[in-house]
Amino acid sequence: MSQTHCPLKSTASFAALLSIALTLHAQDADFMHSTVKQATTLDTLPVIQDWQHPANGVWSASIGDMANELRYTDLAAEPPRIDRLNTLGDPDFPFEADSIRYSINPDGRVMVRIPCGPDEKLYGYGLQLDKVNQTSRVLELNMDHWGQGGGRTHAPVPFYVSSKGYGVFFNTARFLKVYNQISNRKDATQRPHEVDRNPPEDEVASQPGPWQANPMGDSVEAAISGNGLELMVFAGDSMLEVVQRYNLYSGGGALPPLWGLGFWHRVHAHHNAQQVETEVAEYTEHQFPLDVIGLEPGWMTKSYPCTFEWQTKRFPDPQAFTQGLLKQGIRLNLWENPYLSQHAKLYADMYPLSGSHTVWLGIVPDYTLPAARHLLAAQHKADHFDIGISGYKMDEVDGYDRWLWPDHATFPSGNSAEALRQTYGMLLQKLLYQDLFKANNQRTYSLVRASNGAASGYPFVIYSDSYDHAQYITGLSTASLCGILWTPEIRSAGSAREWLNRMQTVCFSPMANLNAWASGVKPWDFPEVTDAVRDVIELRMRLLPYFYSAFAAYNRDGIPPVRAMILEGDFEAGDQTIIAGELDSETNPYATGEIIEKNDQFMFGPSIMVAPFYQEHATERSVQLPAGNWYNFYTGVLAGNNCMITVTAAELQDRTPLFVKQGAIIPMFAQAPLNSTAAKGQDMIVRHYGNTAGSCELYEDDASTFDYQGGSYRIRTLSVDADGALDVKIEGNGPALFGEILNVEQMTK
Ligand code: GAL
Repeated sequence: MSQTHCPLKSTASFAALLSIALTLHAQDADFMHSTVKQATTLDTLPVIQDWQHPANGVWSASIGDMANELRYTDLAAEPPRIDRLNTLGDPDFPFEADSIRYSINPDGRVMVRIPCGPDEKLYGYGLQLDKVNQTSRVLELNMDHWGQGGGRTHAPVPFYVSSKGYGVFFNTARFLKVYNQISNRKDATQRPHEVDRNPPEDEVASQPGPWQANPMGDSVEAAISGNGLELMVFAGDSMLEVVQRYNLYSGGGALPPLWGLGFWHRVHAHHNAQQVETEVAEYTEHQFPLDVIGLEPGWMTKSYPCTFEWQTKRFPDPQAFTQGLLKQGIRLNLWENPYLSQHAKLYADMYPLSGSHTVWLGIVPDYTLPAARHLLAAQHKADHFDIGISGYKMDEVDGYDRWLWPDHATFPSGNSAEALRQTYGMLLQKLLYQDLFKANNQRTYSLVRASNGAASGYPFVIYSDSYDHAQYITGLSTASLCGILWTPEIRSAGSAREWLNRMQTVCFSPMANLNAWASGVKPWDFPEVTDAVRDVIELRMRLLPYFYSAFAAYNRDGIPPVRAMILEGDFEAGDQTIIAGELDSETNPYATGEIIEKNDQFMFGPSIMVAPFYQEHATERSVQLPAGNWYNFYTGVLAGNNCMITVTAAELQDRTPLFVKQGAIIPMFAQAPLNSTAAKGQDMIVRHYGNTAGSCELYEDDASTFDYQGGSYRIRTLSVDADGALDVKIEGNGPALFGEILNVEQMTK
């Protein structure tokens, strides 16, 4: 299906337009009426009819001309998992036929209108740090640094999930403005009743309801400025199944190497090789687990803009240094931002392949061009990968208007500045994942500060310079709705309690990352909580078999390893409190109310719910237990079923509040290993909660290569009956990664 733009817009010169305007002005008083050029009623909007149906529960359609538009699915890590999608059932298209309409406006906007009931809740739109529920909001989904709000974020993924069990994905790398259930059309059939806001006294009772500042609309309307957009619809029996389909269509979830799930420490930006080695030794001295050391900008000859070349004053022998760490089981990760310095060896070759403007005076390579990709991948292979570097922290790809390229910048590929801004983080992920790591059959687990749609297959975790603990917890939920991994990294703290609380949050996230690039802080720097901090890192290490298996489910089935409570079905009812607004002519003239969300809990793997202490809830907080029996992780005592409880740090002996579902089976190491290398082959125990039978799948492979994609993995299905007897079935011929199961701990007496 293709549409042409209003010819006036694209061909008329400014002078011609001006002369038309002047002629019209000279006409009679009918001027306003005689110039109606565009129908404005709903029934005149064209209907999207040409839906493709690439897999069960997945539909797509194009509006306008997509020939030169960049789509997120074109940048996905892996091809769509059509076979797996087709095993998920065959749901009906979740909308009435002919109910999705669009328009291509004279100003070049492409708008699509998707029906949405007033009772539907909408979730998603990427890594939003303030709210999970996006009902009745206007969002500008533009790639941006933190702090802009209103939709602008590190991962403004244009995908939403409805509580009715479907999802909508705007598959185009354009800035998108979306109006969720607001903006009532004049001829909508489901408009709310008009209410007189200032009725005479005797008419107050007959008003059809309270006057509302934001009368609920019956659709989601979203628009871009561009030539066209692709719309995708995902269906499912539950919101989780919708997210699963979105992830599977994006190529499935990422599978990190096992080491990626251990503890990470990013050292001070100016550390040299010897200082790093001393810090690693201190980890051993303090008996703290450690898997990855991250070097910050000082490892390079120049940074901001960058060279990607080793600073030999600080690191005289990078290969010996990297290999020395590897011998201790420690991987090295390198910080970079992608803007190239004049001092870089790559500069001259990259110059013609870069955009019109600079960032921090560095040129901006156009990584949609194969030649640019090849140059960077080859240099990274020779200087980093071949000496043992395990991954990167790709910084500054989210942009910020003051230091990114302007929207009118041009790039040699002809892609727009806007499309490059929306996808720059993804392009770098694609390059590093496909051209460097996958091409050399080594998995990576890396960091990136920006991502976007269809990115679930990338083993990159987003982080931010923002530092609000509540928002960091919310991010764990919102990321899980859109195929994104997020780390609420710890950098510093104003008190020992805050240090412990933040450490506990990050240890139940996709990446347990301490980023000391500016503070130089170490995990044991608050002595009064050192044991409690070690305890939670050790618990993460003990849970590696459970968490690695959760990532395998992300990879194979699209189920997020850390996820929002609303994906747990019964939680939705308890997720909001509505507070009515009070009229005030100065501060609240529309008497706008507030919705307070319960978004400070999340699932870690399939069975453990985490409710971290934070901010004013530093040592005491409420926890919403969804329907079903939930047990205290540490003691097995029944905590409740479909109710709100209060927990305190004192009663938990300073441990993280963790609750486990009835019947859950949790495989974990009998002892905490000091890193993932030491973890290989270690014996496990299995914890069984509640008094009903349960089972879980324990996934194993070589933990570091892509051989699993060719079938080299195995699954131990662990089943425990109501009396605690264990049965183990093994499928697949892949290598054993973990040791034997020593015993079943029956947690519930
Ligand atoms: C910031 C980044 C920090 C740190 C710093 C080094 O942009 O978010 O985590 O890497 O750069 O200069």
